[in-house]
Amino acid sequence: MKYLKFLVTVLTATLILSCGEKPKPAFNPEERVEDILSQMTVEEKVALTHAQSKFSSAGVPRLGIPEVWCTDGPHGIRAEVLWDEWDQAGWTSDSCTAFPALTALAASWDPSLAELYGISIGEEARYRKKDVLLGPGVNIYRTPLNGRNFEYMGEDPYLASAMVVPYVKGVQSNNVAACVKHYALNNQETARFFTDVSVDDRTLYEIYLPAFKAAVQEGGAWAIMGSYNLYKGQWNCHNQYLLNDILKGEWGFDGVVISDWGGVHDTDQAITNGLDMEFGSWTNGLTMGKTNAYDSYFLAQPYLERIRSGKVGTTELDDKARRILRLIFRTSLNPEHKTGKFTSPEHYAAARKIGAEGIVLLKNEGGLLPIKDARKVLVVGENAVKMMTVGGGSSSLKAQHEISPLDGIREALPGVEVVYERGYVGDASGAYNGVTTGQDLSEKRSAGQLIADAVKAAQDADYVIFIGGLNKSDFQDAEGNDRKEYGLPYDQDAVIEALAAANPKLVVVNISGNAVAMPWVDKVPAIVQDWYLGSEAGHSLADVLTGVVNPSGKLPFTFPVALEDGPVKTLAQYPGIPGDRKWESPFSSVPILEEEYTEGIYVGYRWYDAKQVKPLFPFGHGLSYTTFEYGEPSVSKAVTADGKVTVRVPVTNTGAVAGAEVVQVYVSDPEASVDRPVKELKGFCKVWLEPGETKTVSVNLTRESLSFFDAASHSWKAEPGHFDVLVGSSSADIRGSVGFELKE
Ligand code: BGC
Repeated sequence: MKYLKFLVTVLTATLILSCGEKPKPAFNPEERVEDILSQMTVEEKVALTHAQSKFSSAGVPRLGIPEVWCTDGPHGIRAEVLWDEWDQAGWTSDSCTAFPALTALAASWDPSLAELYGISIGEEARYRKKDVLLGPGVNIYRTPLNGRNFEYMGEDPYLASAMVVPYVKGVQSNNVAACVKHYALNNQETARFFTDVSVDDRTLYEIYLPAFKAAVQEGGAWAIMGSYNLYKGQWNCHNQYLLNDILKGEWGFDGVVISDWGGVHDTDQAITNGLDMEFGSWTNGLTMGKTNAYDSYFLAQPYLERIRSGKVGTTELDDKARRILRLIFRTSLNPEHKTGKFTSPEHYAAARKIGAEGIVLLKNEGGLLPIKDARKVLVVGENAVKMMTVGGGSSSLKAQHEISPLDGIREALPGVEVVYERGYVGDASGAYNGVTTGQDLSEKRSAGQLIADAVKAAQDADYVIFIGGLNKSDFQDAEGNDRKEYGLPYDQDAVIEALAAANPKLVVVNISGNAVAMPWVDKVPAIVQDWYLGSEAGHSLADVLTGVVNPSGKLPFTFPVALEDGPVKTLAQYPGIPGDRKWESPFSSVPILEEEYTEGIYVGYRWYDAKQVKPLFPFGHGLSYTTFEYGEPSVSKAVTADGKVTVRVPVTNTGAVAGAEVVQVYVSDPEASVDRPVKELKGFCKVWLEPGETKTVSVNLTRESLSFFDAASHSWKAEPGHFDVLVGSSSADIRGSVGFELKE
């Protein structure tokens, strides 16, 4: 009897277990998409394709399909705004972690940090129930005047590609779509709504598209944002060439094309030319207010009317709806989607680390830095105290906290007298879109008095640290306007000159997202390129200044001595010249600017190399508190027709402290049937070395690394023959080279 009972128990347990173990049908998003699509009405499909509020679009409640919620991007999760206003919603639970600006991330030259960044910001987006993060931005740094360069990843397509891929993967690992922006040729803010860019195909494919292509093909990006400007006479949010031919055709993009906010201009083109979702049209923020604005969207009633009257069919509509449903099943409707995290200690640690690794030590004469044996440190400059997470346009944030450089330095130097002097008055305001810093930066002293007071305090200081640069106000590093000048604003040069004369132990910290002129460069022994580093800005900077972190950042763009040294020289190149066509905007008629990228592929170091113009600081430059010695580079013997080559170089830390070096691999094609740059970055590796340690770094090159884009055949070509591999510590500091032959 006992045995029977036991048997029954075991059998029941097995039965229950086997019932419980019945395999769940695998989640097949494509099947789910088709199923839902087949049940939807035309009206429901059209409703998916345009906004219903500032940052959301409708779902299909009848079928359980949720709304899509977007957020800026790309440096943190934007504070909530009202349903149809840019004003703040007044939440008290939306203060985020502000991560470093993308220039800082690019300057780290560390793809693993890009992944950490993507994962962290993706977690914040997921926690806040956002499905699409409007970022990252990968527009190429073409002129230092572009107000939005701080949101991008520098001047080199290879570097931007290498950094954007892990960022996208990291974000999307949280079931949040990365929306890579602004596709494409949006390299300035001046007249961004009505500039028609002309660029030759080779330049387009070699310089301006690679980072987008990598984000799509290697990163698997689920969304792309069209840009405001025009290309080949069509606005880029509905541009046949860029969206249908290249993105969806050549690259096989299966995600969603989202318009920039207010970037749609025409219903017919929006239907046929590759756009999937329309946001920001006809709203009070970017253009004008209108009752029932969302019904009047180009892809709303006007679209429905065209379908109802038989003027257009539903093939495009099904394609748009399918892509949007796919996005929903990849994000909020993925049954395994994560829950995210918000302002967690890990996120602050990530922000601090990325910030510190991105800081670039430009100059360090006599080993002035790191700070040592100091009793009194004088900190001068508005950027030492100004909150920088607020401002700059759509990337402006409401941060839960922001450590200022001054606070960071004070915390890192206990027992040291840290004195502060303002030095100059820049922008004392601190508000953007309803978020205010709450800082009182008002100042009564005259400019002369401010300098005199700083100079006086500098007399007996062991270190003077000037912290200035640009800020996020209009015509500085900000969306909507470009900078007006290359020099530092607010007469900061005069303050720096005065401090240099007063105390030889001067460190200048430039906070910006752009290169700036430094006419005092020879008079200042130590210069640090800092960036907008977000919540942990002061900690990251202090870590580097005090040597807790040995700097290893490298410039992601060239610092020219003067603007005139660069490739962009004529009005036709920038900002463009008014042509005959007009943009009939809702409130005015504006001539469309015609702009020609006549410098072609010679952007950034490609230009300075070709013209043999010495920049102030070259692309890839950045010093360390230690020194690195490079051995002889070598290449793997078998250079096959697929162009696969492994470059190896031993690198030794020859100094006294541990540190990281970014080994840069450039390729040069001296015998080519076309004009080619002197060299192009095709690989890099950041290597950590203890004092005295040697490691052999290896970097793989492929046929792609050797190719140029041949416009005539519309294909990439690697021509057999001799190639040189140049290995260096910056684009201007090549430590060794090795050649090889590419066989037929
Ligand atoms: C910007 C985008 C941003 C969008 C939504 C636009 O003005 O160009 O980058 O994502 O606004 O805020």
